[in-house]
Amino acid sequence: MSWRNKSLRRRLALWVIIPLAIVSAFMLMDVRDSSRKAANEAYDRVLLGSALAIAERVAIEGNKILVDVPYVALEMLTSAAQDRVFYQVSGPSAKFITGYADLPAIPRHLTPLRSDPVFYEAHYKGATVRIGAVVRVLSSPKLSARVVIKVAETVEARNALISELITGAALRQALLILVAAIIVWVGLGRGLKPLTRLEEALNRRNPADLHPIQHEVPYEVRNLIGAINHLMERLSNSIEAMQRFTANAAHQLRTPLAAIKTQTEVALRHQDPDETQKTLSHLHDSAEQTTRLINQLMSLARATPGEGSLIQEDFDIRQLCIDVTKTMVPTAIEAGIDLGFEGEDIPLHITGDPTLFEELLRNLTHNAISYCPSGSHTSVRVRKQNGAAVIEVEDNGPGIPESEREAAFERFHRLPSSNPSGCGLGLSIVQEIARQQGGDAKILSGKDNSGTLVQVSVALSPQS
Ligand SMILES: Nc1ncnc2c1ncn2[C@@H]1O[C@H](COP(=O)(O)OP(=O)(O)OP(=O)(O)O)[C@@H](O)[C@H]1O
Ligand SMILES: [Mg+2]
Repeated sequence: MSWRNKSLRRRLALWVIIPLAIVSAFMLMDVRDSSRKAANEAYDRVLLGSALAIAERVAIEGNKILVDVPYVALEMLTSAAQDRVFYQVSGPSAKFITGYADLPAIPRHLTPLRSDPVFYEAHYKGATVRIGAVVRVLSSPKLSARVVIKVAETVEARNALISELITGAALRQALLILVAAIIVWVGLGRGLKPLTRLEEALNRRNPADLHPIQHEVPYEVRNLIGAINHLMERLSNSIEAMQRFTANAAHQLRTPLAAIKTQTEVALRHQDPDETQKTLSHLHDSAEQTTRLINQLMSLARATPGEGSLIQEDFDIRQLCIDVTKTMVPTAIEAGIDLGFEGEDIPLHITGDPTLFEELLRNLTHNAISYCPSGSHTSVRVRKQNGAAVIEVEDNGPGIPESEREAAFERFHRLPSSNPSGCGLGLSIVQEIARQQGGDAKILSGKDNSGTLVQVSVALSPQS
């Protein structure tokens, strides 16, 4: 399952939790720094108190410096049981007086020591220690000296305080994230309730009911519902068109079949062989009309997108025009029509289904032969124009009035003047095929504004 299919709730909860966790991590880093600062401030004060208490007890006797380290000075530090305490008193030129001689020296950047105390961290006896140092200037009539008092303490109590502060902050933030996640989870569940109600309403719907959805939905899903309503409208229109088409097709089929029935009844009643022959000839015409109607319906089904074949072949449309024209010549001669092909001598390749284009050309030439009086001329042409192959079938017959040109492409639409044998599907088949193959069909007037010119243009293959 890709992340797109995952629960919306889970995704949004993650969208809240992850950024909050990142922000919390940064905040905890800040808490750690400020806790360290606060712990140092508090513990350094005690460290300083202890150093000052020792400093108080440094005295000069004669030319000797004496130190009497008070017990309380170190006692105040060892209140944190786990920490160890060290001290050192040194005289002029860092001369060791008492305490721990090897206590780490004051770092260079903090020297020379002035009246203010200094604090620094160092490593001593296998542990990190925090050292506070103060200076005291002593003077007697015989001697004047600068005495440095250093008091060190291990940092366990400080670290324990820092981690206690950080843990407290981390727990509070984790609680906040948890509460936020719960709010998102519950809130979204409630927010999505209208969608569940919509789902139930849609499940209860009659399958034939394609009315727009009139449900109260959250603002964010209104566009989606709009799109679904639009789809339903189109679906309803196309179902209506299909129903109209089926009704029309049934009606069209009924007419020749009714004629066949009547003609057979008449033929059966006739005693005269001549009359029977005449009726049989009508019967043949009706059967032919029915066959044409069925063939046209099948062509239309093949040409309708989604139902027809999906053949995408690269072929020479010029050669196909020549071949179809040739096969139509006998019918044209029979109707007294001069049918010919005009075109350049170079192949014109297009991509599509050649059988559909054959159907298209047959319909156009069939129309020219059917609707032009004997003695007329019809030409099939193909040429290259702006990266497209333009196929034209032109005749000098009665033409199609401009007002009828759009309607002529409609299914079962026939001009009132047309002969009774057609079924009104030819031009809609032509248009369906042209559109399915990415092209377009239009009806124009022939030369000198007379006759009919049907023009179909389709894109040429890239190599053409
Ligand atoms: N070349 C033409 N010259 C004059 N009228 C035409 C021409 N082509 C088509 N028409 C008119 O347009 C109408 C629609 O043509 P279309 O080919 O769609 O149907 P049809 O020829 O009647 O039936 P069929 O489905 O058998 O082809 C025709 O009835 C005819 O009146
Ligand atoms: Mg036709």
